[in-house]
Amino acid sequence: MKYAIISDVHGNAHALKLALEDARRKGAEGFLFAGDYCISMPWANEAITLIRSVPNAHIIRGNDENHLDVPSGDDGQFEVARWCARALTPENRAWLDALPETLNFTLEGVPVHMAHSSEAFVGKALHARFRTSRLPSHYPDGPVPRDVLTADFRAFASTGDLAAAISALEPGVYIFGHNHIQTWGDFDGRVLINPGSVGLPLDCGAQGAAYSLLTIEDGSVTVEERRVPYDLECLIGKIRESAQYAAARIWTETIFSELRTCREKVAQFLWSCEEYANRIGDARRPFAKDTWQAAYDEWVRTARDRFPALFV
Ligand SMILES: [Fe+2]
Repeated sequence: MKYAIISDVHGNAHALKLALEDARRKGAEGFLFAGDYCISMPWANEAITLIRSVPNAHIIRGNDENHLDVPSGDDGQFEVARWCARALTPENRAWLDALPETLNFTLEGVPVHMAHSSEAFVGKALHARFRTSRLPSHYPDGPVPRDVLTADFRAFASTGDLAAAISALEPGVYIFGHNHIQTWGDFDGRVLINPGSVGLPLDCGAQGAAYSLLTIEDGSVTVEERRVPYDLECLIGKIRESAQYAAARIWTETIFSELRTCREKVAQFLWSCEEYANRIGDARRPFAKDTWQAAYDEWVRTARDRFPALFV
């Protein structure tokens, strides 16, 4: 039987719908959702409604579901989470709040483990190189072909701390998301699968809705990585017309930049914002609106020169 593995929707209901349609066309009959359904793009309610309508689904929560508990205030930094928390219907918020952090079950006799972050399975080892904020430095010359990234991941996971952590796992399938990097590998019966991000891929690869198909047949496991292309500029135009854009313009523009390049910007911008605030002696955290705006203006002027690998 075939299962679609989908993670990191981040309010991009359009990409989710395309991935679900593609998965059904490919024969998927089961669905595994690995968290982060909201924040960053404006259609979390639509995405959750779609997920809730999917039969035969296993669903866990992600870290952004926890970020909905944002304190009230008029800072710039938390505008997007505050907007999303207000926009969610009470029913959808209750549904999110009831989701489990992890799931362990069997599919056709194969043990399957789900957690939003790989840290739940292998500790922090996996984040040394395949960390979203560091990945662009390994591929500074442009989009990385899928087979190159997969080969790099498998080589990285076959040495050192990570290899030891993986070999300590029981044989089975381990599903996670979180870093928005689509990859997978079979390490002596421990099959690690990160379907990437359906709504916001950050693996220095191609644009489109990323997800993976898991096939289990007679106890053996195969994986197919999928990426469904769509008109990104059309989507960005629609986001620009949304209430989220008016309420959280800086965050949303940073997401546009990530969507266009499939390279992480938010963490780097937050670090730049911290550096800017310290430089002007502003100790207010979360970042106040004026500092948030001024740091963003500086980011727009200087980031391409300071961090060229983020913009190829
Ligand atoms: Fe995410």
